Amino acid sequence: MRELDELLERNRRWAESVKATQPDFFKQLSKQQHPKYLWIGCSDSRVPANQILGLAPGEIFVHRNVANVVVHADLNCLSVLQFAIDVLKVEHIMLVGHYGCGGVRAVLDGARHGLVDNWLRHVGDVLQKHRDAFDIIDTTSMKHARLCELNVIEQVVNICQTTIVQDAWDRGQKLEVHGLVYSLFDGRLRDLGISTHSHVTLAETYVQSLARLGITRGSF
Ligand code: CO
Repeated sequence: MRELDELLERNRRWAESVKATQPDFFKQLSKQQHPKYLWIGCSDSRVPANQILGLAPGEIFVHRNVANVVVHADLNCLSVLQFAIDVLKVEHIMLVGHYGCGGVRAVLDGARHGLVDNWLRHVGDVLQKHRDAFDIIDTTSMKHARLCELNVIEQVVNICQTTIVQDAWDRGQKLEVHGLVYSLFDGRLRDLGISTHSHVTLAETYVQSLARLGITRGSF
C-alpha cells in the first residue's frame, strides 16, 4: 500500500470513530469555530498543540514555524495574530518553545542548514542580547535549554509589541499572553512566568521572568 493510501485509511478510521461517539461533531464544527486560545509554537513534529493540551479540533488556533519565532515583518504570523485577536477574539496567546529544539541548537552550534539559517538569525539575536548569561553556563546542554527559554521570553515581548496586541489592550479587550516551554522528555509544559495582560505589566513580568532564570540585567 502506498504511504498516502495508508494515511487516508487512518483518516477514514479516525473520522468514523469520532462520529461513532459524537454523531454531530463534524456538523457542529463545520458551522463555525470559537477557540479561546492561540498557540504559536515550533514546527517540530514532536510538539503538536492539540495533543499536548488534550484539546479537540475547534478549541485552539495554531501557528507554527521553525523555532517559534515572532518577527515583526512576518506577514504570515501577523495575519494569524490579527485574525485570532480581532475576529476569533481569543483570550489567551501561548508562545510555546521546547527543550531540545533543533533550530535553537543550530544557532548555538553555528551549524549551516541553508536558507533556514537566515530565519534562525532571529534566535541568534536572542543569544547575542543575553551573551553574558551564557558565558557563565558550563555545559552545552544547559546552554541549549537556556536559549530555548530565553527565546520564548523574547518572542512573548515581540508579540506584545505588535500593533495588533497593543490596539487590543488599548480598547480594553481581554487578552493575556503567556510564555511556556515544553519538555520532550516528560511531555510537560513549564510556565516561564511572563504572563502579561497589559502594556503596564509587560516590562515588570519581563524582568521577573529573566530573574527566575538568574538573569538580573534584563531590560527592554
Ligand atoms: Co523546535
